[in-house]
Amino acid sequence: MLILNKTAGVFLKPSKRKVYEFLRSFNFHPGTLFLHKIVLGIETSCDDTAAAVVDETGNVLGEAIHCQTEVHLKTGGIVPAVAQQLHRDNIQRIVQEALSASRISPSDLSAIATTIKPGLALSLGVGLSFSLQLVGQLKKPFIPIHHMEAHALTIRLTNKVEFPFLVLLISGGHCLLALVQGVSDFLLLGKSLDIAPGDMLDKVARRLSLIKHPECSTMSGGKAIEHLAKQGNRFHFDIKPPLHRAKNCDFSFTGLQQVTNKRIMKKEKEEGIEEGQILSSAADIAATVQHTMACHIVKRTHRAILFCKQRDLLPQNNAVLVASGGVASNFYVRRALEILTNATQCTLLCPPPRLCTDNGIMIA
Ligand code: KG4
Ligand code: ZN
Repeated sequence: MLILNKTAGVFLKPSKRKVYEFLRSFNFHPGTLFLHKIVLGIETSCDDTAAAVVDETGNVLGEAIHCQTEVHLKTGGIVPAVAQQLHRDNIQRIVQEALSASRISPSDLSAIATTIKPGLALSLGVGLSFSLQLVGQLKKPFIPIHHMEAHALTIRLTNKVEFPFLVLLISGGHCLLALVQGVSDFLLLGKSLDIAPGDMLDKVARRLSLIKHPECSTMSGGKAIEHLAKQGNRFHFDIKPPLHRAKNCDFSFTGLQQVTNKRIMKKEKEEGIEEGQILSSAADIAATVQHTMACHIVKRTHRAILFCKQRDLLPQNNAVLVASGGVASNFYVRRALEILTNATQCTLLCPPPRLCTDNGIMIA
């Protein structure tokens, strides 16, 4: 049984060189019980408490996750102190479950890897102090993990992807386009100038009170929008994609959110209903927002592909675009990206939806 005794002390981040030296330090010893390095990954950067045990060949030996979505839906967004408390309540159980499922004894772990940034400071702190306790108890090495690098590299668990490749990370907290040249060698090409697309979808879903919609009450905002959009007409009204004149690969979603809010207010007046009631045109609004967001994401990604090819940063044929993060689990967005990659002789790869959203496997 893992025991969390007291808060860990000062955390010193080992240098990249030390981490690589550590990773290289394992040799193959015939006859020993475990031939592979086995890593426990712990993720608490936002609102999911997740852990997984993965071996060096990418086999997932055990996994567990506790999602806080339902609690945060009720409070209309993530309250950091609430997220922190929920992580504290669940982390020991989740790590224990992942280890039990893997049938690996903690003493047989090769290392413990934990998200250290970026994310909500209070949430990150829970995973970090828990991990450092464990590292101290078990006398195991610690591997600090960058959450976005983990999202970007997850695809290498399911597909053989060579460097360099282009990555599009679209989630509730992040939105970026980067050229991945190595395990921790990223060239940032563009990012959101304001909020992330998942955040925008969550805000629109809240404004539409989709939590009260019988089909969407337990879904995240983004998932609820995707679900309703299937029943809606995306041509119901027209919203211009943001930054359509900007000659770079940056994104913006605040304007889209604000224009959509105005539309919702207008519709509420027309339908004679109050904020908090479900509009009859909610599905049309969901379809329009999803479509406009997808167009914007695709246009910015198209610019990144052209830029990288022009500078020979990506191969001219069969360059790989990886899309990951919670919003990349949206099938409308995936289809739009697929049209782009077909037209530019690229290959689109997306981790399966459960590996797109936050999880412990990507950290391990
Ligand atoms: O990657 P993730 O689990 O956590 C962050 O690092 O943010 O992403 C969560 C975000 C939320 O904003 C959620 O609404 C959005 O991803 N999301 C979706 C879908 N599923 C989750 N957005 C669009 N379509 C979906 N199917
Ligand atoms: Zn994430």
